[in-house]
Amino acid sequence: MKEYISKEEKQELENLYQTYLNDPKVKRMQDIRIHRGSNCYIHCFKVAKLAIKRAIKRKKELDLKAILVGAILHDYYLYDWRTNKKLKKKHAKNHPKIAAANARRDFNISPLVNDIILTHMWPYNFKMFPKTTEARIVMNADNHIATKEALTSIKYKSKRIDKYMDYIKSLFEQK
Ligand SMILES: [Fe+2]
Ligand SMILES: [Fe+2]
Repeated sequence: MKEYISKEEKQELENLYQTYLNDPKVKRMQDIRIHRGSNCYIHCFKVAKLAIKRAIKRKKELDLKAILVGAILHDYYLYDWRTNKKLKKKHAKNHPKIAAANARRDFNISPLVNDIILTHMWPYNFKMFPKTTEARIVMNADNHIATKEALTSIKYKSKRIDKYMDYIKSLFEQK
């Protein structure tokens, strides 16, 4: 399938991806558990890769940088909902708001990125409908990756973490 993106744009996105991948603040997500056999950091970069892969195959003008940053920070809530009793109860509903607030505090995010983070739990958060194509692409990519992770066996977890770390080390396949 044709990709609607220039070489220069691809390089720019790759550079942005690497900036976030190596940011110590973002790396804190490695300590946050999410689904089975994964962590928040791996999960978010997997979502970012899938969202961009899908976005660049669309003819429509899209804000690819917002998709990339929104996907990377969509679960930037930075607490372990399994051990935090207060936050556990309403984690599914509240974590997009917490992630967006953290992202606004730590990074200079655009209103579109903020919106992508806030609406990624639709239809669970039924009132928070993703109105833009960018937000819907991230929401769908998150659903896809989260379902896959939830269905993965916990067995061989460490091996899989190594494999995933290798997979997320670049946005585009290196030739
Ligand atoms: Fe989430
Ligand atoms: Fe997620």
